[in-house]
Amino acid sequence: MDIHPELMEELIAGVQNSRKYRQLDLPRETLEDLLQYAAPLSRNKAELKRRLREKLHGILAPYLEDLDYAHELDALNTFAASSPQLPALKPWAAGLLSRHASTRERLTDLEALYQTIFRHTGIPRSIMDLACALNPLALPWMNLAPNTDYFAYDLHGPRVGFLNAFFKAFYPQATAIKQDILVQAPIEPAEIGFFFKEAHRFEKRQPGSNRAFFASLPIRTLVVSLPARDLAGHHSLQPYHDQLIASAIAGQGWGLERDQVGSELLYFIHKA
Ligand SMILES: C[S@@+](CC[C@H](N)C(=O)[O-])C[C@H]1O[C@@H](n2cnc3c(N)ncnc32)[C@H](O)[C@@H]1O
Repeated sequence: MDIHPELMEELIAGVQNSRKYRQLDLPRETLEDLLQYAAPLSRNKAELKRRLREKLHGILAPYLEDLDYAHELDALNTFAASSPQLPALKPWAAGLLSRHASTRERLTDLEALYQTIFRHTGIPRSIMDLACALNPLALPWMNLAPNTDYFAYDLHGPRVGFLNAFFKAFYPQATAIKQDILVQAPIEPAEIGFFFKEAHRFEKRQPGSNRAFFASLPIRTLVVSLPARDLAGHHSLQPYHDQLIASAIAGQGWGLERDQVGSELLYFIHKA
């Protein structure tokens, strides 16, 4: 079906005012993009609405942790006022990292993860963290020089606001940006990019989308992480994820290395 401007407005307003999504302050371009993608597949308004809800649920629902960001902002300000040093910052950040599924899974491997990554990439002076969720709270484990630029991108408004408050207190060179990186890839260049535990979900949102996304990123090396096993831990996902990466970079002439830390497969895509 065709989607005319009034219907687009009605469906976008429906999401923005819904109890489930209104707090998230999602970028408008995400909703427009999902509707543009779903419209040709839908026969009527009810079907279009259902597809929009399903896609949004797939993108967001598994990662809606139980953080009350207004409360966490107050707690952050109180904590920062005591001018904590690294030994105090780590347990505080670990407490928050444990509240989100992706970062909880790698909590015991943080030191090894970043040592392994920087062994492959060299120590960068600038990083983009793509679809970051709470991963920037792992900065205390990265051991980067204080003047390292760090650009963190996510869709989730309150999460981005919280990260900016954390950066202001402890990492003034870092910035969090609310942006749908699939609709509009970052244009601010960085040496390396982290794209952790999201490439397989980009494939679900838009099959084949990683190829153009990887190509558009203004970076030297892209570090993609993907889960090594299925959620139940029964079988290896490595062949499937090797294939995902192989087709995303086929014919580009880029270098590829692979490694693994804990339950995460790491792919180093050297574009330059
Ligand atoms: C699976 S979590 C990955 C978290 C993080 N990369 C990590 O491994 O710790 C997905 C995160 O990506 C964000 N996200 C999903 N699609 C996005 C998009 N198109 N643009 C920006 N952020 C996105 C979600 O809001 C969520 O915070």
